Amino acid sequence: MSGLFVTVEGIDGTGKSTQVRRLAAALRAEGREVVETLEPGGTALGRALRELLLHTDGPVDARAEALLYAADRAQHVARVIDPALAAGAVVLCDRYLDSSIAYQGAGRSLSADEIRGLSLWATGGRLPDLTVLLDLPVAEAGVRRARKGEAPDRLEREDGAFHERVRRAFLDLADAEPERFLVVDARQSADRIAARALDRVHALHPASDAAHGVSGGR
Ligand SMILES: Nc1ncnc2c1ncn2[C@@H]1O[C@H](COP(=O)(O)OP(=O)(O)OP(=O)(O)O)[C@@H](O)[C@H]1O
Ligand SMILES: [Mg+2]
Repeated sequence: MSGLFVTVEGIDGTGKSTQVRRLAAALRAEGREVVETLEPGGTALGRALRELLLHTDGPVDARAEALLYAADRAQHVARVIDPALAAGAVVLCDRYLDSSIAYQGAGRSLSADEIRGLSLWATGGRLPDLTVLLDLPVAEAGVRRARKGEAPDRLEREDGAFHERVRRAFLDLADAEPERFLVVDARQSADRIAARALDRVHALHPASDAAHGVSGGR
């Protein structure tokens, strides 16, 4: 019995958390076992690391940052993601290694290959079966973030050019692995985006394969 590992990626404010919630609800309604999780901070250790990463004042060395994200991911995969997949669940993860590559690689001094290699070492090579990339112009993402009214964290305070580089980096990752990525125009309604993602999940993981699937599904 093997589950399905789905990650949702994109710059801040593109609707990742909204889509994880909607997909989880839709898949549970079909009778599937679903685990919703996020990075950084999917475990107790990860939550401590998340506080350090998002709220440290002053510059964080790029290698130190990469190692902290990798440590969070190692714990998350070992304690949450791999056990859930082994039990046949659909795992929905808000951000994963593509975020590390896009933010740290595009924004800072390390190469995409270095970040990817570090992450794959940390996770024993665990890659998503499907990555939904929510693509949105930086200005629109900024408007959505502002509407949420939360205080911006360290990465959100970076300027528009930084977010533009990160958006590009995500699109380049999708181009390099078209079979893993579903790129969605995030200006569409949340309902429409969820429907497209759900179609892809159904194609990859028919209900008859699911842990507690409803037989005779689509
Ligand atoms: N498809 C959509 N169309 C318009 N607004 C949306 C859509 N999806 C989400 N939103 C709204 O945009 C805001 C940001 O959504 P959400 O928190 O899901 O994004 P996020 O990518 O998880 O953000 P963050 O990176 O800050 O965690 C919320 O107010 C949400 O209600
Ligand atoms: Mg979110």
